[in-house]
Amino acid sequence: MSDFPAPHAPVMLEETISFLQLRSSGIYVDMTAGAGGHSEQIARHLGQGRLIAIDRDKEAVALTRKRLSPYPAATVVRANYSELKTILEAQGCPAVDGILLDAGVSSMQIDRAERGFSYLKEGPLDMRMDSDAPLDAAAWLQCVSPRDLEQVLKEFGDVRPVRRIARHICKRRDQGQLKSTSDLAEAIRDALNHVVPNPVELRQVFQAVRMAVNDELNHLKTGLEHGAESLSPGGRLVVISFHSGEDGLVKELFKRLSRQQTELRPDGRILKRVPALYKTVTARPVLPTPEEIQRNPRAKSAKVRVLERLQSAE
Ligand SMILES: C[S@@+](CC[C@H](N)C(=O)[O-])C[C@H]1O[C@@H](n2cnc3c(N)ncnc32)[C@H](O)[C@@H]1O
Repeated sequence: MSDFPAPHAPVMLEETISFLQLRSSGIYVDMTAGAGGHSEQIARHLGQGRLIAIDRDKEAVALTRKRLSPYPAATVVRANYSELKTILEAQGCPAVDGILLDAGVSSMQIDRAERGFSYLKEGPLDMRMDSDAPLDAAAWLQCVSPRDLEQVLKEFGDVRPVRRIARHICKRRDQGQLKSTSDLAEAIRDALNHVVPNPVELRQVFQAVRMAVNDELNHLKTGLEHGAESLSPGGRLVVISFHSGEDGLVKELFKRLSRQQTELRPDGRILKRVPALYKTVTARPVLPTPEEIQRNPRAKSAKVRVLERLQSAE
């Protein structure tokens, strides 16, 4: 695999493995295999158990397959994790003992210029995690309206001044000059009209466009719901998020599932209380240590939250 640049360093490895409470005969899922760092740690713990490692990126799948080839317990599947239930049915294990979801992009995706994720590297405006998906960033930017672009930049990138930047991007697009990562970066620099070579808005806009092109939050929402539903009693769903929109979804779902539910009569009175099937293990998100951030600056915004399916409803 020499054509891959430096492999992705798994974020919060010790913490996530410890939260999974691995058993040698358990069945585990890594929803986001990436370079296989977390997957390999899980596979090392398994004897009679199984690991199903999923990624929608074919290069990640190839890399993880190679990395996990010494571990007979591991199966690597190329798929979108929002299809988790179908994947698990096909693998003959509808219920599992633990699931890890490490959201966002990998270093391999960011570092390869031809994938088009990085404003620091000249490349095509691609940004697809699944390179067989029909819409790349160039095609998405071709058809997005200025209003929708503004919305995406605001929601996924917290970009400001959002209208000005969206207008500059659309102007460049309408002039037929929005083909490469450098074109997009130039449009943002033009809008800002100042001398800092790599302003923070570059990172924010690229992140927002990437999240829209890959429909990341919708897949995350479905993947989390399927994940929670696929846990055996005592099983845990461990999630690493990097973006406030991702963490908001995780927090909201875990809170909702850990609450006692009430069924109401048509007149609004309580018919019955349904005990919670889950508990949130982490009252607050667990953050990386300063040492890890120093070693791996990409861990900086990571947050880990953990949900557990109860043995019996509480
Ligand atoms: C942060 S990386 C995971 C790194 C991995 N934990 C490791 O140790 O190398 C995130 C991975 O999730 C994958 N991914 C993101 N969204 C996905 C989705 N909806 N379905 C499947 N894979 C997805 C990306 O392609 C990327 O490889």
